[in-house]
Amino acid sequence: MAAKLTVQQLLAKPLQLDTGKVKSDQASARHKALVDALNDHAYRYYVKDDPVLPDADYDQLFRQLLDLEQQFPELQNPDSPSQRVGGEALDRFDSVTHRLPMLSLDNAFNKEELLAFDQRLKDRLDWDASDTIAYVCEPKLDGVAVSITYQNGVLVQAATRGDGSSGEDVTENVKTINTVPLRLRGEGYPALLEVRGEIYIGHQGFAEMNRKAEQAGDKAFVNPRNAAAGSLRQLDPKITAARPLTMCVYSTGFIADDIESAPEQNSYARQRFIADTHYDSIQQLAQWGFYTNAEVAELPSIDAAIDYVEQLTQKRQALDYDIDGIVCKVNLFDLQSELGFVSRAPRWAIAYKFPAEEAVTRVNAIEWQVGRTGALTPVAKLEPVFVGGVTVSNATLHNSDEIARLDVRKHDAVVVRRAGDVIPQVARVLFEERKKGARTVKPPEQCPVCESPVVRPEDEAVMRCSGGLFCSAQLKEAIKHFVSRKAMDIDGLGDKIVDQLVEQNLIATVADLYSLSLKPVAALERMAEKSAGNLIAAIEQSKSTSLARFIYALGIREVGETTAKNLARHFGNLPAVIDAALHYKDEKNDDKNDDKNTDKAELLTKVDDVGPVVANHLQLFFQSQHNIEVIEQLQKSGVHWPDIAVDAVAELPLAGQTWVLTGTLEALTRDQAKQQLEALGAKVAGSVSKKTHCVVAGPGAGSKLAKAESLGINVIDEQAFINRFGNE
Ligand code: IVH
Repeated sequence: MAAKLTVQQLLAKPLQLDTGKVKSDQASARHKALVDALNDHAYRYYVKDDPVLPDADYDQLFRQLLDLEQQFPELQNPDSPSQRVGGEALDRFDSVTHRLPMLSLDNAFNKEELLAFDQRLKDRLDWDASDTIAYVCEPKLDGVAVSITYQNGVLVQAATRGDGSSGEDVTENVKTINTVPLRLRGEGYPALLEVRGEIYIGHQGFAEMNRKAEQAGDKAFVNPRNAAAGSLRQLDPKITAARPLTMCVYSTGFIADDIESAPEQNSYARQRFIADTHYDSIQQLAQWGFYTNAEVAELPSIDAAIDYVEQLTQKRQALDYDIDGIVCKVNLFDLQSELGFVSRAPRWAIAYKFPAEEAVTRVNAIEWQVGRTGALTPVAKLEPVFVGGVTVSNATLHNSDEIARLDVRKHDAVVVRRAGDVIPQVARVLFEERKKGARTVKPPEQCPVCESPVVRPEDEAVMRCSGGLFCSAQLKEAIKHFVSRKAMDIDGLGDKIVDQLVEQNLIATVADLYSLSLKPVAALERMAEKSAGNLIAAIEQSKSTSLARFIYALGIREVGETTAKNLARHFGNLPAVIDAALHYKDEKNDDKNDDKNTDKAELLTKVDDVGPVVANHLQLFFQSQHNIEVIEQLQKSGVHWPDIAVDAVAELPLAGQTWVLTGTLEALTRDQAKQQLEALGAKVAGSVSKKTHCVVAGPGAGSKLAKAESLGINVIDEQAFINRFGNE
C-alpha cells in the first residue's frame, strides 16, 4: 500500500475531479488522508487549543473533502468531518434506553457534610478512622448530561440523560460539536465504549451568541445552561452547529469487547472500566481525543479534597464556564464497586454545592415595563436583598406565562436566585408564608404608561402595548435605539437626556431631534451651553449616514444590524425596500393582499435572513402612514445616504471576504474603517476564525492578532490599509 499523503501533498495537489479520470481507489485513499488530516486539525484546534494548520489550508482541505464526497458519495462515512455541518432536520427525536442508567448525585453543602461523607464510607468499608480514602475532585459543570457511544472507535450514538433510564437520540446534533471526536485517536479502546459528560456553553461563547441574537432582533438567552439545553434540542442540526457548544467527558459508561453479544441493558454490578482509577480513566479518555476538564485533580484524602473545594471556590469567578458545585469521587474503581449505590445515586461520590446564590425576600410590587417594540415585561420590585455579592431590588418575571408558572403574587415571600452574571430571577414562591387574600396577578389590559389597549397575539407569550410611538415609553426606547452607536450614532445623547426630551415634550418623533435648538437643550438637567452645543453638532453630523444604518435605526421589529445591512445591499435604496415590503404577500393570509404581481410579492424573502416573520414586520412598519411621514420628515431635515448600486455588489473588490479590525486605529475611527470595508464588499467580523481573510491591526492588538498569526492569516497595519484602499 502506498504511504499516506502528507498535509503538504494534499494541499499542493488537489485531485483533478473535473477530468473524470480519478479512479475509485485513488479517491478512497485521498478521502482517508483528508479525513485524518481534518480530524487531526480539529483535535489540535478545539481540544488542545493548539492549532498547527493555517485556517486557509484547513478550508482548502475541507473543500477538497466536500468535492470528493460529492463525486463519490459512497465515501461519505460517519467519521467524516463533513458530518459536522449538520445534516437533514428531523421531525422528532427517537427514544434511547441507556445500557446503564444515568444516575444523580447526593449533595453536601459544607465542610462538615464532606467529612461525614468520608466517615460514612469508612464505616461501610470497615476502615479505621486514621485510614485515608483517595478522591478525585472536579468541577460540576452546569450544562446538559449526555451519553455518547462509540463502536470500534466511531461515534454511533449520542443521547440525553432524560429521566436517567432513557433519553433522546441527539446523535446528529452532538456530531456538530467540535470537541466531540467522530473517531477515537490512538488505540486500545474497547469495541464498545460509552462515555458520559456535560455539554455546555462557555461565558465567551454565550456573550457572543447573545450579541448575535440581539443584532438579529431576537430574544436573548437567559443563561448559558438554558442556551445549551435549547441548542442541543434543535430538530435542525444546522442550528445546533452554529451554537458554541462544548462537550467535556467526566466518566465512562457501558463497556464491552464484543458488540454483537453486548446486552441492551446491564447492571452496575458487572460494570467494566478502562483503568484502575477514575483519574487514570480520564487521562485515557483524553488520549483517545476527548476534551476533559483541566481542573480534575487526584487527592490523597478528604482533607485534601476540602482544600481543593476551597481553592476552586475562590477560582470559580475566573472560569470561563458556569459550575454549580464540585464533584468528589472515590478514585479507586475497586472501592467504588465495593461501595455500590443507594437508589439512584452512587455511595462513592458526592456533589459539594456552593452556598446558594439565593436569598429570601419579599415582593413589594409587580410592575410592567414597556420596551421599544411595546413588549410588556413584568418585573418584581423586591425588598432589597444581598445575593451572590450584589444587592438586588428587581427581578425579571419574563412574561405572564412565567408569572402563572411561579404563581407569584404581590407581598409573597420569594426565593431570588442569581446565577453568574445573569439577571436575577425569582426561583420560587414560599407558599407557606403567603398572606390570606393575596390576589393573582392580572396582566394589565391597558398600557401602564399610555393607557392604550394591551394586545397578545395568539401564538406569542409576549403582550404588547398597542400605542406605538404614541406611548411615551415606546417613544423613549425608540429614540434611544435611533441615536445608538450602530444606528444614527449621535454622541452625547444618553438615556437620561432622551427621557427629559420626551418628558418635556421637546420631541414627539425621532424627526424632531433635527429641529432641536440650543436653548431648551442647554436648560436640561446635566446639560450646559457647551455640552448642548456639542450635542446639536453631533445631531447635525449624524445627518450623513448609510442606508443600512438608517434602516436599522428605524427600529423595525426583528430587523437587527445584519438584516438591515442585507436589505440595504439587496435593494440599494429605500423606495425599493418600501415597495417590496408593501407588496409582500404572506402565504398564510392570501386574501389580505390581492396583489397579483407575485414577482414583487416574493422580493423581500429573497434577502438573506428575511423570512415570513421579518417580512411581516417590515410590511406592518411601512404600511403605517405615521412611519412614512416620519421618514419623509427626516429626509426633509437633511438626513441622507448614498444609494448603493445593487448589481455592483458582487463585483466589489472584497466581495465574499471577511475582515477583522483589532487594536487602536489612529487615522480612522473603527466605524469608518468598518464602513469602508463594507463599502468594498467585505464583511467585518468581531473575531478571528479560519474564515478570516485579513486582519487590520493597530497598536495594542492582543489575542486576535496572536490568533491570526497562529493561523497564518494575513495581517496589515492601518497605514497599509489606507495605502491600499484610501482612495476607493
Ligand atoms: S458524575 C453517578 N461528574 O451532575 C455519577 N456529574 O447529579 C454521575 N455533572 O446531571 C455523575 N459535572 O450531568 C459527574 N464532573 C461531573 C459532573 C457531573 C456535572 C452533572 C451530571 C448529572 C448531575 C449528577
